[in-house]
Amino acid sequence: MLRNLQAALKNLRALGVGKREAAWLAGTAVGYAVLEGVGVGLLVPMLQYVERGDTAFEQGTPSMVWRVILGITSALGIRPTLFVLLTLVFVTIVARQVVRYLHQLAVVRARVRATAVLRQQGIESFLRTDLPFIVSVGQGRLLSALTSEAERAGTALTHLLNLWASGTLLVVYLVLLFAMSPLVAPVALLAMGAVAVLVHRLIEKSRELGVRVTAIHDELHAAFTERLAGIRLVKMMGQEKADAQRVNSIIERLSDVFIGIGKGREAIEVSVEPLLMLGAFLTLYVAVVSFGLTLASLGIFLFIFLRILPLLKQVNIARQQVGAHIAGFLQTQQLIERSRTATLIVGGSRPFEGLRECLEFRQVGFSYFDNASEGWALRDISFRVKKGMLTAIVGRSGAGKSTLLDLIPRLREATTGAILLDGVPIHAFELRSLRARIGIVDQHGFLFNDTVRNNLTYGLAEKNQGAIEEAARKAYAHAFVQALPEGYDTVLGDRGVRLSGGQRQRLALARVFLQDPDILLLDEPTSALDSESEQFIQAAIEELRKEKLIIVIAHRLSTIRQADRILVLDEGCIVEQGDHGTLLNRQGAYHRLFELQLYA
Ligand SMILES: Nc1ncnc2c1ncn2[C@@H]1O[C@H](COP(=O)(O)OP(=O)(O)OP(=O)(O)O)[C@@H](O)[C@H]1O
Ligand SMILES: [Mg+2]
Repeated sequence: MLRNLQAALKNLRALGVGKREAAWLAGTAVGYAVLEGVGVGLLVPMLQYVERGDTAFEQGTPSMVWRVILGITSALGIRPTLFVLLTLVFVTIVARQVVRYLHQLAVVRARVRATAVLRQQGIESFLRTDLPFIVSVGQGRLLSALTSEAERAGTALTHLLNLWASGTLLVVYLVLLFAMSPLVAPVALLAMGAVAVLVHRLIEKSRELGVRVTAIHDELHAAFTERLAGIRLVKMMGQEKADAQRVNSIIERLSDVFIGIGKGREAIEVSVEPLLMLGAFLTLYVAVVSFGLTLASLGIFLFIFLRILPLLKQVNIARQQVGAHIAGFLQTQQLIERSRTATLIVGGSRPFEGLRECLEFRQVGFSYFDNASEGWALRDISFRVKKGMLTAIVGRSGAGKSTLLDLIPRLREATTGAILLDGVPIHAFELRSLRARIGIVDQHGFLFNDTVRNNLTYGLAEKNQGAIEEAARKAYAHAFVQALPEGYDTVLGDRGVRLSGGQRQRLALARVFLQDPDILLLDEPTSALDSESEQFIQAAIEELRKEKLIIVIAHRLSTIRQADRILVLDEGCIVEQGDHGTLLNRQGAYHRLFELQLYA
């Protein structure tokens, strides 16, 4: 618990609480506590005054409180009557409430900011980190960190600040108690300590439950997104009810854990009071029997105890709630930290100014595992292709074709060997300038929930309508885009117009045509197209190939035939390379693939 608190304190800055803010929060908390102390402290002279009238401060040496009051009243030139005393108390209370308001406002700000800061830091570092990290952690985890866990971090911070504020107030009360009766106060202190120890177990339990909440939140987010994304399959397999039940069981587990945390809170709520009452009675008994407290002091003593009761409850509940929710913060923080240390693919210093001649793979190996000996997706890949060449990669599913393309813009980093552009290893180049000159059309055809225009120009410098339309025409997309309700301004995606697979593919092609990169990597770019649009796009590629370097993963013979060079990939190795005619004559792997195609 203490370690968690320390971690949280150390990370206050990470939660967006700056030095000035922390000082303001602490200052207002102390201010409130002091004013509360003064208000309650003023009750002593008031009761003494009621008891003894003017003699309360005239007989003997006046107490410190009285000396202060007399100082104030004589400065104002008035007598310390009951009315004056009451006014003083009232003014103190009003001042106290103003400070309290300021403090609570600062707490709300800190809470909201903490959540916002974690989300900002999170999305920033998740976007920046390497692809393998995102893939391996999974969407559910990342989403839950950015949403519910960031929210819980804010909750934990609120309770942490409450803990401080209530703690400060407690200290003030203790000071008051000590000032009134140094002999009785330790008994009260002992009672409070005993309560704190007794609820310790409950708090530990809440902390454990809090960690489980994080795990279940991750699971729940994954379940929600997957079931909704896979809705077609869910429906086809008639799994609506079964899946609802599966997700339900996660929801129920989460509810159980939250009920557990609630139980802890309520247990503290109900048990703290009688425990303290017992302490209070014991203290009072000792005070009256052994030390012979006066009526006024006794009244104040009781009053302070009645004020301390809810406060002690608050302190312990805040302890429990921090314990229950701190996991949200710690886990999010940890995930952000991990994503930062997972960012290994950093660019070099050399700007990539465009491909002049060739791309070369030198004995490149790649493994998806941290420990490469667990399996290689690519092994000993060596080839050299030149600008102006169209290269086709063919091979069975799972051969490693897509993996190979990912290595060129460094979406994934080659485990062994080197990839060179014009003889320079790719890691020498600035990442941004390298990727800007490589265009990828992947197998997924992803679109943002945005207009056609913004999807096409995403990440590109200003493009005019003419250029956009020309790229769309080349990709055989212009006609269908124009037919959309608002043409290039039609919103696509989740909350907009849905497109067919082939239409998506053509937009993806239009995007890279517009990007106009030096190197084009096309992963089955025409797999969802009819032969007419395919022919059209082949013509566009044919036109481009003279000044570009194009690598295309293809299954269709018509595309493969166009290629200057064909790489035949099998189980991560290049088993053959050459042009169509040469490879056919060889009667090897390519020939076998070709025959399968013919009879497909
Ligand atoms: N994220 C990943 N983690 C671990 N292994 C992976 C990952 N992605 C792919 N693989 C494995 O790497 C191998 C090559 O995959 P790759 O996607 O490159 O195949 P491919 O040739 O593009 O296949 P397809 O024609 O089906 O698209 C496969 O055996 C696959 O199981
Ligand atoms: Mg693939």
